[in-house]
Amino acid sequence: MSSVIDDLRQDHANIAKLLDTLEDQVRLFEAGEVPDYDLLERIVDYFLDYPASVHHPKEDLVLAKLRARDPVGAEAVGDLGAEHEEIAVETRRFAATLEELLQEAEMPRDAFPRAVRDFVDREREHMNMEDSRFLPVAEQALTQADWDDVAQEFQEQEDPVFGRLAQERFATLREYLSL
Ligand SMILES: [Fe+2]
Ligand SMILES: [Fe+2]
Repeated sequence: MSSVIDDLRQDHANIAKLLDTLEDQVRLFEAGEVPDYDLLERIVDYFLDYPASVHHPKEDLVLAKLRARDPVGAEAVGDLGAEHEEIAVETRRFAATLEELLQEAEMPRDAFPRAVRDFVDREREHMNMEDSRFLPVAEQALTQADWDDVAQEFQEQEDPVFGRLAQERFATLREYLSL
């Protein structure tokens, strides 16, 4: 059994919570209320940080191990590394768009919901693919030594929002999520 795969699934559950929170903020905005700008910025900070620097590289390493153990299974997963690079670009673009929108005196009616929903949809699609195709195949194919290697490589990496050593800059987000 692998704690790495549990951690990856836990990351997905955490990310799903943040995506739901982003959607809640859009619904508030569409109901005529003011979104919580600080919360939105913290969530985007998180996506620029932990998923980009830990979660995706960890998955990339799992895929590299999978390629060695089960090339056919790995082939069926597709080019996860390229998808992670695309997501990194899209996340930075989303962050820039959000920053621009939050600075406008009057936020354009459609631009904010569209930017958020595009980002949320993309993230969900990616995680669904991983949960249904990538992780089950990896779970079957990797050996305990493979999982130990991955765990070893990332052992110092703590999630700054959901981890044991949560960072102070995410205190309000943690409070909002009742963590
Ligand atoms: Fe991923
Ligand atoms: Fe993932």
